[in-house]
Amino acid sequence: MVESLSFRDLSDSLADARVLTKWANDPEIRYLFRVFPTEESHAHLYTPEEILAEKTPSNHRERRLVIEWDGQMVGEMSFGFALPHMIHQAPDVAWFSIVLGEPEARGRGIGRLAMLHLEQEAQRAGARKVEIGVFEFNARALGLYQSLGYKEIARPPAFTYWNGRKWSDVRMLKDFGAVDLA
Ligand SMILES: CC(C)(COP(=O)(O)OP(=O)(O)OC[C@H]1O[C@@H](n2cnc3c(N)ncnc32)[C@H](O)[C@@H]1OP(=O)(O)O)[C@@H](O)C(=O)NCCC(=O)NCCS
Repeated sequence: MVESLSFRDLSDSLADARVLTKWANDPEIRYLFRVFPTEESHAHLYTPEEILAEKTPSNHRERRLVIEWDGQMVGEMSFGFALPHMIHQAPDVAWFSIVLGEPEARGRGIGRLAMLHLEQEAQRAGARKVEIGVFEFNARALGLYQSLGYKEIARPPAFTYWNGRKWSDVRMLKDFGAVDLA
């Protein structure tokens, strides 16, 4: 497993954008990682151009990575700093996101290995803490983050619409403390 997992930077090609678009439009998972402010907003289907524009880094400290398993693109993850929606606005607090878009990649520990890699990369980029947001109904992601040492710090209410009502976001924080990266 570990040997067959690799990471690369997301390119600005339409080929990468098409894969991300497939995941953003996949009804099995889209409600788990995209914010839908209203019931009606669920009807929106993304185009690769929209996704490409969204993924363009807003500054040089943002990084987007592709997760590859056996050479196939199975997920994406990113970190950024001082993003407007973050509760902790400080230059050493990173924001994380992760999506395993291909169903066969989920539930095998790839998410954990990918998060550990992202933590390492973010620390190299200057992160001392990480803030992450997870919808309250996303039990698998909550379980993963808890087991990696993330602790709940806030619950912004009525954050996203799913399954007939609005749900809170759970904000979690991990403090790396004094970590030696040598
Ligand atoms: C969330 C996601 C990144 C998790 O990665 P994964 O590789 O599928 O994670 P795993 O199934 O191996 O589970 C990791 C941990 O989560 C926990 N977990 C898994 N399923 C769970 C569930 N249904 N309830 C509670 N905890 C659960 C366990 O603690 C598990 O650790 P373990 O290895 O000790 O059992 C991935 O499933 C994914 O991308 N899902 C779709 C999009 C998404 O939800 N992204 C996150 C948005 S915040």
